[in-house]
Amino acid sequence: MTKLSDAFDINGMHLRNRLVLPALTTNFATTEGAVTGDILDFYRLRSKDVGLVIVEAAAVKQSGRITPRSMGVWSDDQVPGLSALVRAIKAEGAAAVLQIAHAGAQSVPGIHGQWGATPSGIAFNPDVDAVPMKTADIRQTVSAFAEAAARAAAAGFDGIEIHGAHWYLVSQFLSPVTNKRDDAYGGNARNRARMAVEIVTEIRKTLGKTYPVLFRLNAVEKINGGQSVEDALTAAKLLARAGVDAIDVSLIAQCKWSGIDGHSYLTGTSVLPMDAPAGANAPLVAAFKAAMDTPAIGVGKLGDNASASHMVGTGQADLAAIGRQLMADPDAGGKIINGQPDDIIRCKECLACMERIGRGKPVICAVNDDLTGRAGKP
Ligand SMILES: Cc1cc2nc3c(=O)[nH]c(=O)nc-3n(C[C@H](O)[C@H](O)[C@H](O)COP(=O)(O)O)c2cc1C
Repeated sequence: MTKLSDAFDINGMHLRNRLVLPALTTNFATTEGAVTGDILDFYRLRSKDVGLVIVEAAAVKQSGRITPRSMGVWSDDQVPGLSALVRAIKAEGAAAVLQIAHAGAQSVPGIHGQWGATPSGIAFNPDVDAVPMKTADIRQTVSAFAEAAARAAAAGFDGIEIHGAHWYLVSQFLSPVTNKRDDAYGGNARNRARMAVEIVTEIRKTLGKTYPVLFRLNAVEKINGGQSVEDALTAAKLLARAGVDAIDVSLIAQCKWSGIDGHSYLTGTSVLPMDAPAGANAPLVAAFKAAMDTPAIGVGKLGDNASASHMVGTGQADLAAIGRQLMADPDAGGKIINGQPDDIIRCKECLACMERIGRGKPVICAVNDDLTGRAGKP
């Protein structure tokens, strides 16, 4: 049976074990999207035991930032800071992947000329105008993803992950809830995947076949008319054919429509509700493993050892990503691998972290008031 401590390779990227730090937006960058000392320390602490670190969403365009201090990869000026981050992660023995993202209409209101790019004008925030993209906008954004991937490679990242989940821009195209277009980018699952496939194709043209490319998508969207597992699999197969090396299987776990002044808007989150059991997403990632040869990453309350071991051990996933629990206790990965799960300082699932970044503030954790490990140090 596969163990969490077993090594794994993704298109030549060697991982010393099966644990992954998934992308976790800290909102610790500068207002210009540059890496800070807080970011270096946050990642250094969480790189020492896992096989793979997927660095938080970095915006491919300044107008596509998720938070006011989210990381950026839209400019060559950001490359030296990103290189320092790669060195910090690799010095601890983990492989480093950068998540590249465009927030679309989930972008920050009111800064840097944000204009709320969307497939079809569905809004996510009453303060951000949701504007349907023209074909030229889509093409330009596809190029921005490829340029961002080239910057990530130049900075020394071992690979990139395209953020195609959580109803950010690429995911808005994939989702039947947010994509109502009647052109080549809308309609059936194949058409809705067109933008994502074009991004992968353009990245492959820019970086060749040997650079690891991961793709995060919603395996399911728990809302009326949301993306189904079947549609997500259709997209994933097209993406794999275009050159994606691993599928990072996430979801919209909770969401709702709200209304203000007669306008409706959508909000959603990838985190499982408190009453969902650890590893509740296992059947989702298993569906990808059963239908495809492409490696798959599972996520969702896997920070308790048993569920991560079970998921990987039974072949439901190749890798287990542990998010909030590694925020709460940066040593949780080592404690899991070394068989000391009882020593883990438990995440309370209070979502203070998400609530803070939702308000544009640097992330906090209710059980860890020293996320960078710098308290008391000069
Ligand atoms: C504070 C916070 C920030 C997050 N930022 C990102 C992000 O930048 N990109 C992304 O794909 N997912 C992001 N996520 C989702 C996580 O990667 C992960 O899928 C989610 O927390 C579920 O895993 P968990 O139950 O182990 O926490 C974030 C989650 C939290 C709590």
